Amino acid sequence: MEILEQFHLKISERAKTYIGYPVATDYDYTELYPLMKYSINNVGDPFMESNDMQCKSFEREVVAFYADFFNAPANNHWGYVTNGGSEGNLYALYLARELYPNGIVYYSEATHYSVQKNLHLLNMKSIVIRSQPNGEMDYEDLSQMIQLNRQQSVIIMANIGTTMTEAKDSVPTIKETLNKYAIKSSYIHCDAALAGSYLPLLGASDFDFAHGADSIAISGHKFFGSPITNGVVLVKKSYKDRIGRSINYIGSLDTTITGSRSGMNALIVWYAIQKWGKEGMLKRTMASLENAAHLRVHLNAIGVKAWSNPNALTVVMPKPSSEICKKWQLATDNDIAHVICMPGISREKLDEFIEEMKQSQTNG
Ligand SMILES: Cc1ncc(COP(=O)(O)O)c(C=O)c1O
Repeated sequence: MEILEQFHLKISERAKTYIGYPVATDYDYTELYPLMKYSINNVGDPFMESNDMQCKSFEREVVAFYADFFNAPANNHWGYVTNGGSEGNLYALYLARELYPNGIVYYSEATHYSVQKNLHLLNMKSIVIRSQPNGEMDYEDLSQMIQLNRQQSVIIMANIGTTMTEAKDSVPTIKETLNKYAIKSSYIHCDAALAGSYLPLLGASDFDFAHGADSIAISGHKFFGSPITNGVVLVKKSYKDRIGRSINYIGSLDTTITGSRSGMNALIVWYAIQKWGKEGMLKRTMASLENAAHLRVHLNAIGVKAWSNPNALTVVMPKPSSEICKKWQLATDNDIAHVICMPGISREKLDEFIEEMKQSQTNG
């Protein structure tokens, strides 16, 4: 159809300068294409079989991989393949609310916009904590707010890589604060949408279950890349057991946020894990970190004050001209913008961007 051809042409053009958002493009799911002829639906709980048109065994392997990746307790974990990071965060907040209906959710001002909406949907009390200039939570502010509300349960939404600057909140520091005020009931959720997929490979996982997380959500379509958005949420099973309801119609437990869930997504995440393995994932991470360093160094050399948080693929810079932001589809927030050096972005592409920044510096 001509209209589709035109759209294809347009999207393939725009994809050439898509460096402002965290989606890997070095993927190839051709092997899965034949399965796209089937309506594969993982409706309900991935650990309970439903009808035969599902691929829950693949989904369970995905959950097992991330349980190991995030040091989840061997006999007390559960999870599922979501539609994306936002759904994982919503699910975690839902569990936290069921555990602590009167708890207060603390989250930093650098938190992803979807969290505020989720809190509104769930009608949960919350307090916004100031951020430090690098985007990390201001622990002093957190400490004061918790002290003021010591009698209430504490629910923390920790960012393991904020959207704009990829700053990581320190779970050990947050735990110290909870201990300092002898908080008896608390829940820590880690929103690890992008960075959660690669920090453990670098030995930098001080946010996992062994360090005090009660749940972790990631986006699959970010680090692995995918034509369909997806993610994974992992929680302690004992918490999840409080919310499931058995539904005859689907022959399964209704433990997930949505009813029908794309089986194709479970296959995509499973395939990416199989294809890359931890070794391949680490290789991609190292190449991306090297690209981020290359970009920073060259931008700095032409007078652009570009910087990154430790172990980040995100390079933050003062907002360039609107022409550059538009062409390269840079995400902006007030006076900053960023490039995210995702797997699939070539050195040549970055050099092209650097050259345009240089021209714009000279002309501006
Ligand atoms: C920190 C953070 N959390 C959550 C999300 C939402 O993830 P998704 O787009 O997969 O729903 C994002 C997306 O950019 C993010 O940066």
